[in-house]
Formats: sequence, C-alpha cells, structure tokens
Amino acid sequence: MKILVTGGLGFIGSHTVVELQNEGFEVVIIDDCSNSSEKVLEGISSITGKMPLFEKIDLKEKAKVEDFFKRHHDVEGVIHFAASKAVGESVEKPLLYYENNLGTLVYLLKELSKKDNSNFIFSSSCTVYGQADEMPISEKAPVKPAESPYGNTKQMGEEIIRDTCIVNDKMNAIALRYFNPMGAHPSGNIGELPIGVPQNLVPFITQTGAGLREQLSVFGDDYPTEDGTCVRDYIYVVDLAKAHVQALQRLLGGKNKENYEIFNLGTGKGSSVLEVIHSFEKVSGKKLNYKIVDRRAGDIVSAYADTTKANEVLGWKSQYTLDEAMKSAWEWEQKIRA
Ligand code: WQD
Repeated sequence: MKILVTGGLGFIGSHTVVELQNEGFEVVIIDDCSNSSEKVLEGISSITGKMPLFEKIDLKEKAKVEDFFKRHHDVEGVIHFAASKAVGESVEKPLLYYENNLGTLVYLLKELSKKDNSNFIFSSSCTVYGQADEMPISEKAPVKPAESPYGNTKQMGEEIIRDTCIVNDKMNAIALRYFNPMGAHPSGNIGELPIGVPQNLVPFITQTGAGLREQLSVFGDDYPTEDGTCVRDYIYVVDLAKAHVQALQRLLGGKNKENYEIFNLGTGKGSSVLEVIHSFEKVSGKKLNYKIVDRRAGDIVSAYADTTKANEVLGWKSQYTLDEAMKSAWEWEQKIRA
C-alpha cells in the first residue's frame, strides 16, 4: 500500500518513513529540500533496507502536485509534514508562511478531493492551545489566539481540513498535535539537523555540550513553576513517528467514527528547563555551561499533554523516558560532529 509523506526528509518525517516501511508500507516522499537534505534517504534506507521513492517537488507548484497525483493514483494515504516552522521568521515573513503552509495544504486537499476515498494526516502542534488554563491539556481545551503567523497556520490548517471533511465524507483526516519532539533514531542514522543557531532547547543543549555553542541561555527562572523555569512535554521522536502509523491504520481500517479527529501526542509528563539540563548532564557525564537570562518573549509557562485519547483510541503510548530520549539526542550530536 502506497503512502505519500510530504516533508519526509525532515526531522519527524524521516522517522515516520522508517516506521511506515517497518510496517510494510511503500513510501513515496515529496520534499523540496529547503530545510533538509537528500542524504537523509541513505539514512532511512540503511535502517530499513528499503529505499523510499523520492520526488523533489515544491508543493507550491500546483501543476507539479497535480501531475504527481496523476502518476501516483495508487496513493492511499497522505501524511503531511512539509511546512515552514520557525516561529520568529514567521513574524517577519507572514505571507511566506501563509503561502508555504496553507497554500500547499489547499492544493493537496484539492487533489485528494478528486479521489473516491482519501486518508490524510496533518502535523499540528500544541501551540494551538497557547497558555492553557488547565494542566494536563486535553483535546477539549480551547484553541487560543495564535502568538505568531506560524501558530496561525497550524490553527487555520486544522480548520481548512475540518471544513473540507464536512463537505466530503469520503475524506478521512486526523490532526496530530505534537508537544515538544526530541531525540534521534537509536541506529544513529537519522536525527534532527537544525540549520544555523538552534531555536529549540534540546539541540541547543547538545550543541553546547559538543562545544559548538559556548553557553546555553535559560530563558527565565521566575516563572510560577516548581524550580521557576518553564515546563514542557518532551516526546521522543520515534514514539511520535509510531503514533502516525497507528493513526494511519485507524483511517485505513475505517475505525474512525467521525471523518475528522484530533489527538494530542506527548508523554503526559511535564519537565522544566532545568530538569532537561540535568538529564543531559546525567546521560552525557558532562557539566553544561548555562546561565539564567531574561524571559523569552512569547514563551508560555507550562504545557503538557493529557494523552488519554491517544492512549485509548489510537492504542498508542510513549515508551521512552526523557533520559533515554536525551541519550539518543546526545549520541546523534556526537556522531554528526565526528
Ligand atoms: C522549550 C523551553 C524555552 C531555548 C516550540 C515551538 C512551538 C511548538 C512547540 C511546533 C522553553 C526554553 C529554549 C534556549 C531556553 N512546536 N529555552 N533556552 O517554546 O515549547 O516551542 O515547540 O509546532 O511552535 O516554537 O520549544 O524548544 O523553543 O523551548 O531556556 O536556548 O526551553 O524558554 O521554556 P517551545 P523550545
């Protein structure tokens, strides 16, 4: 069975391709390589023994998307990762983000609407909840006004899919709201490849540990949390990838009761910035050079998932601990710097 993975050379996409291939799916990847490398294909095939099909296409090129679906009319499911994801950049270039993340989504859904039956999985984010009023955050928590054009594209993306599913009962879709993905494949053959200075905590920590960065700035220790630093739900990328396969199997098996569903994907456990640093120090045996600085604008205090729905409905649960995920991130960092 053929599955299209857009953005399949990216961080979460590449790990999902591996899990799909391991479950016997035939994968075709579309990626424009704007934030990824074709070399990832070798990493994937070295793990699974199978080279996925790959087409270098920019999804903004509508005619190419149309042509792709004409040639691959046997695609039975689409997992859509391809998107721009830098929050700060989205504030400076909002139209780029709306075009990259929403224009392309519309083109894909238009093509899928031509089919008798289609299955679609969308990469969404816990960013849609903003600072939720209650912890842990369930899917019933209200969506809050987005802090950035990036956040807006995730909220609007979900609405575009929901509206499409209302008028097309042959389309089945699931939006997966990720908390904070981290780590790398245990093989050490694929992982996160941030371009430039990482904005996210875990790659910044591992790069500091590896000597690429001098010091980690911890953004604020005067938050109303146990140790004063912000709390997030760090989810191991392989666990996250497996959830996509389970969501796809739900769609393909016709087990979904509504044709549009939403699931949180996290561990259910919150960890503070200092806890994440201590995890790094424990698994690496190194002291991390860090200092407390002012709060970062736009940061929320705390966000961790209520994963009951994914546990019960998808039959999915994260397996890895923070330390295990951190160990994989550190091994990957050392490997790519060797
Ligand atoms: C985590 C914590 C920082 C860097 C991101 C995306 C968001 C959504 C979820 C995708 C925070 C602190 C960080 C540093 C630090 N993803 N930190 N020093 O803020 O939860 O959001 O993931 O859709 O859109 O932006 O993740 O990794 O940036 O930060 O102290 O150098 O680490 O303040 O508390 P965040 P993050």
